[in-house]
Amino acid sequence: MGRQELIDNLNKALACELAGVIQYSQHSYLVTGTDREVFKGFFRDQAEEAQDHAEVLGDKIVALGGVPTVEPAMIRQSVELKDMLSQALELEREAMAAYMAAWAACDDNDLPQKFWLEGQISDEQMHIEELEKLTSERTAKAGTERIVLREVS
Ligand SMILES: [Fe+2]
Repeated sequence: MGRQELIDNLNKALACELAGVIQYSQHSYLVTGTDREVFKGFFRDQAEEAQDHAEVLGDKIVALGGVPTVEPAMIRQSVELKDMLSQALELEREAMAAYMAAWAACDDNDLPQKFWLEGQISDEQMHIEELEKLTSERTAKAGTERIVLREVS
């Protein structure tokens, strides 16, 4: 564990966020049909969020004495909304792995960095859960017997 390992993992997360800016922007340009009404704005918002996260990471990496990467991670492309959403989930999971590795690289007593990362990880997890719902990978598992239709008398 050490400062360099922390910086390297933050740079991996930064590469994912930079990829997110480009990938989400391209998907906002490419989405067509009636889905465009909703998903153009959705992808633009995601691109903005990735940009915000990239800025925070870049500032943090310099604060730790590192140099922020200028190389984005792999950018996934598609013209099909279903694939765009799956690709978004893959990218967000890749980013999560980097954030988690950065957390694990923190010294045990480096609580300020850990607390900061926990806030980032918490945001990313909510984002992943939303994408899992959008791709229907995550659904409520309540049995139908638990859903009781109230009779109207
Ligand atoms: Fe992010």
